[in-house]
Amino acid sequence: MIKIEDIHKSFGRTKVLNGVSLEVKQGELVALVGGSGSGKSVLLKHIAGLLRPDSGFIYINGTEITGLNKRQLELVRKEFGFLFQGGALFDSLTLFENVAFPLTEKLRLPKEEVTQRVLHYLDLVGLSGSEEKYPSQVSGGMIKRAALARSLITEPKIMLFDEPTTGLDPQMSLSILNLIRSVHDRLNLTGIIVTHAIPSVFKFTNRILMIYEGRIYFDGSPEEFKRSEEPIIRRFLGEEVLD
Ligand SMILES: Nc1ncnc2c1ncn2[C@@H]1O[C@H](COP(=O)(O)OP(=O)(O)O)[C@@H](O)[C@H]1O
Ligand SMILES: [Mg+2]
Repeated sequence: MIKIEDIHKSFGRTKVLNGVSLEVKQGELVALVGGSGSGKSVLLKHIAGLLRPDSGFIYINGTEITGLNKRQLELVRKEFGFLFQGGALFDSLTLFENVAFPLTEKLRLPKEEVTQRVLHYLDLVGLSGSEEKYPSQVSGGMIKRAALARSLITEPKIMLFDEPTTGLDPQMSLSILNLIRSVHDRLNLTGIIVTHAIPSVFKFTNRILMIYEGRIYFDGSPEEFKRSEEPIIRRFLGEEVLD
């Protein structure tokens, strides 16, 4: 589903990606970890077609995207859902209207179908009954969940989650991760989650990728990761806030 071959990316003199290669199969849910500033978000943006590598190739479902023009990229991007760090909602819209937004904006579906789908997704993220509330009237966790519903409602084949749990308390973070897992299983989508929620993340993914010095430094199971004697991995695990 996602295949990356030897991508390199520098910003000015800073080399951020220095030969990243990886493959994520249809239906996999993988966690991408790494120190702050290691290039996790930059890598996700490449996969999403928001950044172009200096060299290397990116295949999404068989289509090589680094050579596509804007219009062709738009078509590929339709397969994606994103949940970026801010996960901001429109303050002037209710949770219902926020979640409905991608449907009314992009797909121009009939009103009844929109209503049905929005209610379904709000229910999926545990927000039934809060449809008419505004973002300012609900908790941070509820905003995250609404943002998650909004990113899923177009039923993307590939979901990219950039730190969906940052800023949430451990209990809320675990509930968001569990939610992502259950939605993933239900929709059988392909997902990459960038997260700091270690060790929670070990429980719901069976593949960890760690980026270090511009490359994929580790690719394996959570058990192997935890047991690794590699000083770089030990140091990384030691520095992470254990939740
Ligand atoms: N658009 C950009 N222009 C210049 N530098 C950038 C840009 N985006 C990211 N960087 C730099 O690339 C490095 C990796 O950033 P990022 O991928 O956001 O790290 P993280 O792993 O914390 O998500 C950082 O040094 C950051 O300053
Ligand atoms: Mg980041």
